[in-house]
Amino acid sequence: MNNSQLAKIRQNLGFIGRSHALDQILRTIEQVAATDIIVLINGESGTGKELVAKAIHALSHRNSGPFIIVNAGAIPEGIMESELFGHEKGSFTGAIGQRKGYFELADGGTIFLDEIGEMPLETQVRLLRVLENREILRVGGSVAKSIDVRIITATNRDLLEAVHKNQFREDLYYRLNAVNLVVPALRERREDIPLLVEHFATTFCNLNRIEYGGFTSEAMNLLVDYNWPGNIRELKNFVESIIVMERGMSISGSAVQARLPVPHVRMDAHLPVHINRSNEELEREFLYRALFEIKNEIAQLREAVLGKYIMPGRRLTAGPSFERDLVNLTGDSIHRIEDETEEIFPTMEQMEHELIYRALEKTGGNKRKAAVLLAISERTLYRKIKEYDLPF
Ligand SMILES: Nc1ncnc2c1ncn2[C@@H]1O[C@H](COP(=O)(O)OP(=O)(O)OP(=O)(O)O)[C@@H](O)[C@H]1O
Ligand SMILES: [Mg+2]
Repeated sequence: MNNSQLAKIRQNLGFIGRSHALDQILRTIEQVAATDIIVLINGESGTGKELVAKAIHALSHRNSGPFIIVNAGAIPEGIMESELFGHEKGSFTGAIGQRKGYFELADGGTIFLDEIGEMPLETQVRLLRVLENREILRVGGSVAKSIDVRIITATNRDLLEAVHKNQFREDLYYRLNAVNLVVPALRERREDIPLLVEHFATTFCNLNRIEYGGFTSEAMNLLVDYNWPGNIRELKNFVESIIVMERGMSISGSAVQARLPVPHVRMDAHLPVHINRSNEELEREFLYRALFEIKNEIAQLREAVLGKYIMPGRRLTAGPSFERDLVNLTGDSIHRIEDETEEIFPTMEQMEHELIYRALEKTGGNKRKAAVLLAISERTLYRKIKEYDLPF
């Protein structure tokens, strides 16, 4: 593929960036799109896995057919099979009518199975059967139906590691891994950051009729140096919120500095490294460190809630409580409130939002680890991420 073909794909499919890594991704997309080969996309949260899947579909002969996105991490386990493969009337309590599953809905097109690493083992068995026979059987059904669907999967987990831990079927892994496309983290292609910033900033300003004052070079350098654990999604969110906050002014280095998440003091940098320890000991230490860091974070959180800064993941449309925070941002209103001994107290929702954001930030967007940190199920975490519209 020559450079002008690459440029065309970039433009048509919405890929911004000039890095060698992105060029490689686009080349692979173009190569695999022409066939029906199964593609497994790996990459951290927010790196563009969904965009890659869409691009493969858009460049394939299936592009006039459906593109169905299924997030295996977000579907409750109990209904996973009926969601994927459909069900017949009366096949289980609550199955009032018959229903087509996502595979049937994707017939003639592409199904994108996102967060495939979260698929329960029993469902993996059924999926393998679908791949082998190219037909599906609805839950409670007796007649198989043949389907013509291209499968693309994605995960931010190391699936091979999941195989070793018996959490993912080895046979399915090899089946899904026919072509493996790895989307690198944004910090591994920093040269794309200025282009992405300009793109997100100008698009956002045009859409919202905001005059765009640009970023100073100092501001841009800070953005290029930052690690972006939530990758491109986090960068986009950051650019949009800082533009709103700076209201069309040229964005300075200090404005960026003030809003970039506070860098973490890494506990493990200070603690000695031990080897030859049992898993149990390691786990205990991990929990201990996590608690230690959470304690630190609560202090930072208190500052955030008292209005010293607005956390980057916060939605601007959060309603009355957000407006209240904005009032608290102006220094003298804090005084006023203190004078009236009216205590500023965060809502449960604000605390939860902040904690979840920080857990994801700490784990580089790894939802499984963040769920462990927060002691909630991964499914609950997915629901909360959606609810708070977090950039992970
Ligand atoms: N190269 C790119 N140029 C412009 N925008 C991009 C690029 N890559 C990703 N994006 C944008 O970044 C956001 C995140 O991308 P996407 O949803 O594809 O990530 P993801 O890897 O699927 O994330 P997750 O693992 O959290 O589901 C989207 O708004 C997407 O359009
Ligand atoms: Mg995605």
